[in-house]
Amino acid sequence: MENDDFQPVATKERVIQCMTSQWYSQFAPVTIKTEFVSLKPDFVHYLNEDGIVLPQSLQMPAAYGLDDVENALSDWSSDDDDDNKEDAKVHQPNFSELNHEIQSVIDRLDGAVFPKLNWSSPSDAKWISHTGTMKCTTVSDVYLLLKSSNRTSHDLNEAFVKCSDYDGSNEPPGGFQLVLRQWEDLLPGMEFRCFVQENKLLAVCQRDYTTFYEYLDRDHEAILKEIEQFFKDYIQGRFSDVNYTFDVYRRKKNRFWIIDFNPFHCVTETLLFTWQELTELALAGDSCAAFRFVTSEAGIQPSKDAYSRLPQDFLDFSVGSDVDQIVGLLKEIDEKERLEPVEKL
Ligand SMILES: Nc1ncnc2c1ncn2[C@@H]1O[C@H](COP(=O)(O)OP(=O)(O)OP(=O)(O)O)[C@@H](O)[C@H]1O
Ligand SMILES: [Mg+2]
Repeated sequence: MENDDFQPVATKERVIQCMTSQWYSQFAPVTIKTEFVSLKPDFVHYLNEDGIVLPQSLQMPAAYGLDDVENALSDWSSDDDDDNKEDAKVHQPNFSELNHEIQSVIDRLDGAVFPKLNWSSPSDAKWISHTGTMKCTTVSDVYLLLKSSNRTSHDLNEAFVKCSDYDGSNEPPGGFQLVLRQWEDLLPGMEFRCFVQENKLLAVCQRDYTTFYEYLDRDHEAILKEIEQFFKDYIQGRFSDVNYTFDVYRRKKNRFWIIDFNPFHCVTETLLFTWQELTELALAGDSCAAFRFVTSEAGIQPSKDAYSRLPQDFLDFSVGSDVDQIVGLLKEIDEKERLEPVEKL
């Protein structure tokens, strides 16, 4: 159990330094190709609205028709639904300029992107996509993930709430941005989160702490040395803060990509460490970083993703469907609940 006394609280400035746009150009040679799209207030307002309505003029169904979804849900529907569906269409917003900008970025980044806002990805919403990942090949894929995520909503409304100098404003300098990174098929066992305090690498942790990777058990000493060297060569003294965390992906021996920087701040996940342990490591002042990984199948912890999953029958239905069908299905569910409120026990 984490002891609150050890939770670090950063200033707004430190959180700002971890926005992708702040560090990207300096670290471009050792990170994944990325483009940035400014978001106008009307789109931010759309993201903040309840419900999932995709904007007009986006790509339409391919695999199954919307009729299939409606037939599958006929038990739930009533005649009144048709009027409500018509209403929903009337209120569909239109962001044709933004759609065009996003599509151009997807094309330039070889047809598939990983979306984020200024700091966070919609990782809590990946269950909703037809691939079960954050891989987006269309503008609708991007919108559906952003509209369904609490993590990206945090970027819009609460990014600075826990900061020591929080002044009630949550808009970052330069405004809100959509960050589109080229999609890469990453192996989760090759990712590591690294903790830096006073410019010193304190600790390294397996990023996917829900799985036992045999190769880590075997090679962890060599991997730690490689990460320490990469930190020295590319990051130490170059990042614009002295306290921070960074995530790296080991592509092959001695070759890494920086995936992300996060503030040394209570909202950042410490994975297999606690803030208390990290504080103690800083005080101990060891010359070598601590490395933590899952050492056996028995040490596996439940995945965070388990908290943002849908029932299996929904997932069975949605696999192979596309965005428009899933949105249709969610609207039906929403409507059914409105017409027949679930009895609370
Ligand atoms: N370009 C990419 N292509 C495919 N997968 C990616 C890409 N970038 C990141 N990922 C995967 O998504 C995960 C989350 O990415 P990232 O750290 O950028 O998101 P985040 O929301 O900032 O997460 P956190 O808050 O934990 O830092 C990474 O651990 C990685 O597995
Ligand atoms: Mg991050």
